Formats: sequence, C-alpha cells, structure tokens
Amino acid sequence: MRQQIVAGNWKMNKSLEEGLELVKGVLDRLEQRPRGPVVFATPYPYLQSVAKMLKVRKGFHVAAQNCHHEEKGAFTGEVSVDMLASVGTEYVLIGHSERRQYFKETNEQLARKINLALAKGLLPIFCCGEPLAIRERGTHVGYVAKQLKASLFHLHEADFRKIVIAYEPIWAIGTGRTASTEQAQEMHAAIRVLVAKKYGKGVADDTSILYGGSCNAQNAPELFRQPDVDGGLIGGASLKAEDFVAIVNAMK
Ligand code: PGA
Repeated sequence: MRQQIVAGNWKMNKSLEEGLELVKGVLDRLEQRPRGPVVFATPYPYLQSVAKMLKVRKGFHVAAQNCHHEEKGAFTGEVSVDMLASVGTEYVLIGHSERRQYFKETNEQLARKINLALAKGLLPIFCCGEPLAIRERGTHVGYVAKQLKASLFHLHEADFRKIVIAYEPIWAIGTGRTASTEQAQEMHAAIRVLVAKKYGKGVADDTSILYGGSCNAQNAPELFRQPDVDGGLIGGASLKAEDFVAIVNAMK
C-alpha cells in the first residue's frame, strides 16, 4: 500500500540509554498518531527495547539496519532474519549504500536478503542510489534500474507489494548536499515507471518510494510535496528528537 513513511536510520550512533531517550522524546512530542508509519532503524542490541517501548503506540515501528543473507549457521558475528523477527523487529533496511560500499554487499546477496526477510514476515526497505561519478555522467536512471532489476524484480507481484523503496543518491548521504527537489522527483518518477513496466501501473502507484540523503527539518516539506516522493529515510537528522519530529510532521 502506498503511504508516506518516515524512517530514521541511526547507523552506528547512540548508547542504549541515549537511544531510548530519543525515542521517548519523539513519542512525547507527537501526541497525535502520525500521518504515516514512523520507523526507527536502530543498532541490533537496542531492537528489543525499542520494540517494547513502541508496542503501546500505534504508527511507530522498529527496523534493523541489516540482516544476513543466509538463514542460519556458522557465520560468527552475523544476525539472521529469524533472530530479528524473534525480538519484535518489523522492518529491515536492505542494501544501504554504506553496506554496499564498506561491506561489499552485492545485488545478488541483497536479493537473497530480500527473499529471506519476506519469507519471515519482515518488511524490507530497499535502498538504491548512484555514486557521484554516475550522476555526473548522466547515467543515474540506468544505474538504479540495474539495482532494482538485480535485487527486486525477481519477486512475484504479491511479494513486491510489500517492498518499500528508498532512493538515496550516495553523493547526498551525510554530505549536507541534498538532491534538489527536481532531481529527487525525476528519479522517483523514473523508478515508478520502471516498476510500472515490470508489474503494471497499479502496483507502481501503490509503491512507497522514500527519499534519503541530507534530508532535514528544513528541506523535508518541499521534498515530501513532490508527487512521487512518499516520505524519507533520514540519517543525521533522525538523531535529534526535535528535528526528526519536524520531518515526521512534514508528511503530507
Ligand atoms: P543522511 O543519511 O540523512 O545523514 O544523509 C541518510 C541515510 O544514509 O540513510
């Protein structure tokens, strides 16, 4: 179902105590149910505590920032989708550019993560986006199309409908250099066309496509007003309750 979603990606930040304080700060400031789901993508060790805290409030959800692409076994230090589900995790980020870049995750591995997450009832937030060199060459739509085809387009329609897509141009992540509203809208519209070509217009119109990359309290309202931008995946600005709440309130 297409809906506006705001997801905060804490990355490797905050202690448990600071994290719970942040969640409490957001909940306290949002007395009314937000217009769309609000998701906290926390570090693994905090998932269970955050899930417990959110249980009593409708519209708030907890996400993992990653999962392993194998179901179980001898993978020291890794975390499986079953483990995530068993502590109350509802969403999982898959294919964040930092995972692709620093941990060399491939499109094929990401496809396996997507399959496992769906099989175990977790909702994937699939991240895609191009590096600066590709944007400068003007081949960004083709680049993202390849990511979608390799990791998502093997899915049957019923499964694809559970996917949330987050478009995050790598050059905009953590740099303070946001994509312009025109650049974001252009890519989001292009992604919707790609989905329509594969699954039909009905499915494309039902797909939530979030924007990520230096999205903040100031630029969120204009970005979210774009017809094909359905909310955001927020890094730095999700670490302060006031800023994150302002972004949540920017949902149209
Ligand atoms: P940023 O990160 O908002 O700090 O740019 C976004 C992300 O990496 O999801």
